[in-house]
Amino acid sequence: MTDAKKLFVKTYGCQMNVYDSERMAEALAAQGYETTDRADDADMVLLNTCHIREKAAEKVYSDLGRLRPLKTGKPDLKIAVAGCVAQAEGAEITRRMPLVDLVVGPQAYHRLPDLMGRVARGERPVETEFPAEDKFDHLPARPGGTLAGRAPTAFLTVQEGCDKFCAFCVVPYTRGAEVSRPATRILDEARGLVARGVREITLLGQNVNAYHGQGPDGGDWSLGRLIRALARIDGLERLRYTTSHPNDMDDYLIAAHGEEAKLMPYLHLPVQSGSDRILKAMNRKHTADSYLRLIERIRAARPDILLTSDFIVGFPGETDADFEATLALVRAVGYGASFSFKYSARPGTPAAEREDVPAEVADARLQALQALITEQQRAVQEAMVGREVSVLFEKPGRLPGQMVGKSEYLHAVHVPGEGVAVGDLRRVRITESGPNSLGGRLV
Ligand code: SAH
Ligand code: SF4
Ligand code: F3S
Repeated sequence: MTDAKKLFVKTYGCQMNVYDSERMAEALAAQGYETTDRADDADMVLLNTCHIREKAAEKVYSDLGRLRPLKTGKPDLKIAVAGCVAQAEGAEITRRMPLVDLVVGPQAYHRLPDLMGRVARGERPVETEFPAEDKFDHLPARPGGTLAGRAPTAFLTVQEGCDKFCAFCVVPYTRGAEVSRPATRILDEARGLVARGVREITLLGQNVNAYHGQGPDGGDWSLGRLIRALARIDGLERLRYTTSHPNDMDDYLIAAHGEEAKLMPYLHLPVQSGSDRILKAMNRKHTADSYLRLIERIRAARPDILLTSDFIVGFPGETDADFEATLALVRAVGYGASFSFKYSARPGTPAAEREDVPAEVADARLQALQALITEQQRAVQEAMVGREVSVLFEKPGRLPGQMVGKSEYLHAVHVPGEGVAVGDLRRVRITESGPNSLGGRLV
């Protein structure tokens, strides 16, 4: 069709937004939109936004400002804001940004086609309800077909929302209460993905290991149970899940890491701080010691597992001694990689009422922590040299003839690509370690 309308999507924030953007694009495809990677030929621009830190939220407004000349030159252009900023700020967005036609929160994506109809009638709808119906039941089925240039990896949301209310975090407000999808739906969606060539699935949830969905037998399934069922799907070679909370790592899930060959030896398990005083003030409901003992149990089940974490520095009340405790915890664990953030006060969260640590103190701590994390990451990567790993190839590399994929530990690995195709799973001997990737040779 030559008269297809064009949709440009920009995704901010976490992997769940990446998944949601795909689902929204699929819903809009049913309305005749095909995606483009250029905003300037779009008939519709969709920003799928993130509210986690102030910078992330402000970026949306500066990007909207940059769309102004485009909209002036093309008055029919539709601009929609979705995601967590949409949920948190709602009508404030249409007030502040007259060029925005539509605001839709994360639980209302299935209403997009309907909302677009209202836009066509000249309305500027703001939809931030948490509807009673499940959006996943009302979104169109995922398209079939073959891999055709697409990655052999996919995200699959199994759980959404959070009941934990860490004192710094907006997620429980923007994504709502914890909801788990029924296992049958997840298994069906996974089989569909595998039928179109996907070989690795990453299960997503804001608190993915708190998953407790209805099983096909009517009983309650945990994440470990779900993983074991997914692992029985022929053609699905690898499973991962993110993001987990330490308090929801149950024995069954830990055991799965030792027993389920398709479950990759990689776990992102954010701890945020190594100071019990700060963990308490954060409402994390675990201590540094309970986290370290948990890591021991996980490593007992799967000794080679690569661990990663998130950290916040400069949380209100954090002293030098608290920060030293964080460094000590990082040294004790030995992470393969980690993300660290300077605390950002978020409106409506309990911690926003408290007094901030001076910016220069927080900056210095961030630098010190990042230096330690980088050192650990390098050491773990260098220890891979000489080892044999399995690599799922995803795309051509930067150099001619190169192919790049991910090892079971989620390291990017490039090889001279002769005879390797996207979607191939091959044994590779690691020969070198660079700043952000490993190099190797096919075995
Ligand atoms: N659901 C996940 C991730 C939440 S957001 C979890 O519970 O781990 C991802 C990371 O952003 C968090 O782990 C935390 O380190 C960071 N983060 C969240 N709120 C923040 C804030 N107000 N300021 C700075 N970093 C924040
Ligand atoms: Fe935010 Fe804490 Fe929930 Fe993670 S567990 S999403 S950090 S409130
Ligand atoms: Fe951001 Fe919302 Fe994800 S705030 S991190 S997009 S859940």
